[in-house]
Amino acid sequence: MKVNPESIKKDFPIFLKGQPFAYLDTAATSQTPQVVLDVMDAYYTKFRANIHRGLYEVGEDASKAYDDARVKVARFIGAESHEVIFTAGATASSNMLVSMLEYSGIVKEGDEVVTTAMEHHASLIPLQELAKRNDLDLKHIPLAEDSVALDYSVVEKFITDKTKIVSIMLASNVTGVINEVARISEAAHKVGALVICDVTAAVGHMSVDVKTLGADFVYFSGHKMCGPTGIGVLWGRADVLKKLQPGVYGGGIVEEVTLARATYRGIPERFEAGTPNIAGAIGLGAAVGYLEEVGVENIHEHSKALADMAAKLLEEIPGVRVIAERDSLKNVGIVSFVVKGIHPHDVADILGKEGVAIRAGHHCAMPLVTDALGVPAVARASFYFYNTPEDIDALVRGIKKAQEIFNNFSK
Ligand code: ALA
Repeated sequence: MKVNPESIKKDFPIFLKGQPFAYLDTAATSQTPQVVLDVMDAYYTKFRANIHRGLYEVGEDASKAYDDARVKVARFIGAESHEVIFTAGATASSNMLVSMLEYSGIVKEGDEVVTTAMEHHASLIPLQELAKRNDLDLKHIPLAEDSVALDYSVVEKFITDKTKIVSIMLASNVTGVINEVARISEAAHKVGALVICDVTAAVGHMSVDVKTLGADFVYFSGHKMCGPTGIGVLWGRADVLKKLQPGVYGGGIVEEVTLARATYRGIPERFEAGTPNIAGAIGLGAAVGYLEEVGVENIHEHSKALADMAAKLLEEIPGVRVIAERDSLKNVGIVSFVVKGIHPHDVADILGKEGVAIRAGHHCAMPLVTDALGVPAVARASFYFYNTPEDIDALVRGIKKAQEIFNNFSK
């Protein structure tokens, strides 16, 4: 089935305002369909209560809606529901996971952690801090020469008997490249290392199945896949999760507490301390249902075709350099670019005034952008199922306008 963006747009209130709006910044956050807004509104107006506590009707309704959301999210990523932990987002998942591993004694001085040169700061920095605190060696698989893809030829050299953790993103939020995670997982498991996979730029945009990835942990935010902000997921393989200490402590995770110590519940409860983002989880459950109806494979088909079309048209503009995975089969739907002589922030600013929303900067992947790609910043257009070829025309027109303005400016 082909995606029809014009009919998809009707499900999103933001596109019903009447004026053209080329929203090409889904990699920063997606727009929200009415079905997600409706279930969150229903929670707040019809059955707001805390979960797993209130022995009254709305309390039971709230608990059921929250638990149902966990089942839906688990199904969406091919997992068991007790393996799905709700968090505040990818950053919270990543930080909590590092604490869980550290508190459980998974790493010791001299061990190695392997990650890649393209990771998002949310993944990279918690690992840097973990390495600092525990005297670990943090290594980064580089990009292949003249490519935005990883250099797979060095993987075996990087992952050794000393490697305890391997962390890799499924798709880059800058270049759109889809990494060969299963291949990395296999190499990591051969030496007994645990594999962490950040699927934030990929989930809801292409099919993501935790078993196919072969990772031990997967995490993501809900807000780039039609869900609300402030909700995310940490998935872990049940047999691994069961052996881990909580990463955050508080109410809701305990079996028994004395003044001296506490014992903890099973999974997933032991990892969800405090009152969770109940409305957010319910909203994410609705987002998943909505995406399943359209079909993530169809969504990916649409986004990668638009990304390919955009890359081709941008490459035709003199002075524009496209920085993206150009094999459309390996791109999640993202195209970054730079325009000679114009800072990406100025490009984004001029486009914004033309009704075209893109993001400019290092995209929370500074080592990738500044070191590996060798530019201070890039402009990025990211595509989703509500985007159209007309959005790309508007992008191209806006870039040409920016060039005109800057050429006049420099005369
Ligand atoms: N990580 C988000 C982005 O890529 C915010 O824009």
